Amino acid sequence: MKITNEKNDIEYVLFSEEQIKTRVAEMGVELTKLYENSAPVVVCILKGASFFFTDLCRQIKCPIHMDFISVSSYGKSAQTSGVVRLLKDLDNNITGKDVLIIEDVIDSGLTLKYLRELLEARKPKSIRIACLLDKYQCHAPEIGADYKGFDVEDQFVVGYGLDYADNYRNLPYIGVLKPECYE
Ligand code: IMP
Ligand code: MG
Repeated sequence: MKITNEKNDIEYVLFSEEQIKTRVAEMGVELTKLYENSAPVVVCILKGASFFFTDLCRQIKCPIHMDFISVSSYGKSAQTSGVVRLLKDLDNNITGKDVLIIEDVIDSGLTLKYLRELLEARKPKSIRIACLLDKYQCHAPEIGADYKGFDVEDQFVVGYGLDYADNYRNLPYIGVLKPECYE
């Protein structure tokens, strides 16, 4: 396996640790109001959403259940393969429950379209989506999230859970990857 020099591969920092923390806290306030009386199942899409999920869950100040799902659409490339596969299903039965899906970034929107259809078939009471980043130019507006952290341009970003070929996830900020690192 190639060991990357992660800091040198970053063109510039897009969102600092502090900016992410502030925004996640704001989202937590909104979601606490929304789910005050419903104990939703909060679903982490592995692995990219992991840090966002754990930070956001701690900012939701009411009872929740945590669950995890894993899908794959990218493989090693920086472009979607267009095919979404379920790698790990939920542990919880979500029928009749409020469900909040936590995603790292919406790009083409294919992953969320697939997951929404998969989970809607199980007849939850509601499904909402919170994503940290929205590549708003890359998908139809109706696919978008109900709650989002930041809008981003169409560029490849890593850190705070986001990867390229499973690298860079543990950077504490979100940065733009130098194109020569994935071209
Ligand atoms: P979509 O299905 O095209 O919306 O892609 C969503 C998934 O692709 C996300 O969950 C990420 O895992 C991955 N992805 C999309 N854009 C980026 C990026 O800029 N950096 C890292 N991963 C990304
Ligand atoms: Mg990924």
